[in-house]
Amino acid sequence: MSPETKPDFLINPEGLRLDGRRPDEIRPTELEVGILKKADGSAMIKQGNTHILAAVYGPRELHPRHLTLNDRAYLRCEYRMATFSVPDRKRPAPSRREREISMVISNALEPALFLEEFPKAVVDVYIQVIQADGGTRCASINAASLALADAGIPMRSLVPAVAVGKADDKLLVDLGDMEDKYGGGDIPMAIIPRTEEITLLQQDGSFKKEELIEAIRMGINSCKYLHELQKEALKRAYAKRAPAEDDEEDEYEDDLETDLGESDLPEEED
Ligand code: CDP
Repeated sequence: MSPETKPDFLINPEGLRLDGRRPDEIRPTELEVGILKKADGSAMIKQGNTHILAAVYGPRELHPRHLTLNDRAYLRCEYRMATFSVPDRKRPAPSRREREISMVISNALEPALFLEEFPKAVVDVYIQVIQADGGTRCASINAASLALADAGIPMRSLVPAVAVGKADDKLLVDLGDMEDKYGGGDIPMAIIPRTEEITLLQQDGSFKKEELIEAIRMGINSCKYLHELQKEALKRAYAKRAPAEDDEEDEYEDDLETDLGESDLPEEED
């Protein structure tokens, strides 16, 4: 493979990005829930060329015991990149970056969960990056939050996440790898959509105050769009599992709304 070279521009004269997206457009995103049969919950995300699997086990007994929290369950997230997920073979041992991202993901998800319902237990979230093309921490949060819902962990809301960045002095949502590498900064964020509470906000590179405010506004918009995709993916999974009877299908949908503490699920089209 030829070595990667810096592109001449990240935004063309028509205002479009390397892959033809508008600045406020997220990558084509596919979500699928319940793909691993042995996990309590699971989900897959393909966000452009970033592909990630998330699996949830628990709540279950926590080992080692000294990590026990008396007032709530411990949310243990493990973010890992497969050795083949990037062109330069990723060393299999967990890196400092992977440990930091694991912690960031756990902190982003925790405010959405009722972990106090399971004191002393653990909820394990395993995240495997199959193919990395930028934005893996945000895509991981999108998938992990769906896997937690699939595992039936009580939650206030799903948690969508996206990175907003800058290239050629223009703000762009959902950066791809080249934009991340050669652009002028990156702000990964995650939110609880209904309240617009921000559960993750990091910043790489420098942004003017007005740019930061606009980046957060764009990020919230994209997160709300991703939230709709997340809810649709959950509905598809529930519908597949539901018995054929119409009234029982309705019951599953009611359960889904109750599980998420939401009543704003998109209406089913006739
Ligand atoms: O993935 P994310 O943007 O959340 O995290 P990052 O640390 O800013 O990494 C940006 C990108 O660099 C990743 O998504 C990968 O595409 C790439 N990367 C890589 O090529 N090799 C690594 N060992 C780590 C990251």
